[in-house]
Amino acid sequence: MPSTAQAPEVHTLTLLPTVNAPKAARDFVTKCFCDLGIADDYVGRTVVSELVTNVHKHVKIGQVVVRVFEDEQDGSVVVEVWDSGEKMPVVREVEGSAESGRGLYMMSMLVRDWGVRLTSERGKTIWAKLDR
Ligand SMILES: Nc1ncnc2c1ncn2[C@@H]1O[C@H](COP(=O)(O)OP(=O)(O)OP(=O)(O)O)[C@@H](O)[C@H]1O
Ligand SMILES: [Mg+2]
Repeated sequence: MPSTAQAPEVHTLTLLPTVNAPKAARDFVTKCFCDLGIADDYVGRTVVSELVTNVHKHVKIGQVVVRVFEDEQDGSVVVEVWDSGEKMPVVREVEGSAESGRGLYMMSMLVRDWGVRLTSERGKTIWAKLDR
């Protein structure tokens, strides 16, 4: 029998990894969460801001694709960021005086789950699952 499950609607934004990209991504998440009826977009905005800033800082080239959708199986909302870079993100252990290297760790503390998957052609997607 064919499945009656509907594929979730995926909201997609494609950007260049410029200095303007994090704000555009935050505003996009606000609109997506509004469309999905989720009142509190603080975590979503923080997550996408960190992930897109990382592409600006650590990849710099290619495009950035932001996707937002609901996972109906577990009731979460998923924020994903794809970039074309070959290097993988690393959650670092930073010394007290270090001026950077905390972003992914802080993000990991805010979300239900997160991870990285390699894309078949090139690049990778970093995904984060948020409680609604
Ligand atoms: N999209 C990415 N592509 C390649 N490497 C990445 C990416 N995101 C993060 N990294 C790597 O993982 C490390 C940890 O990222 P994290 O966001 O925790 O720290 P940071 O960006 O260096 O500093 P901060 O976020 O505190 O400004 C980075 O230093 C970088 O080496
Ligand atoms: Mg960072």
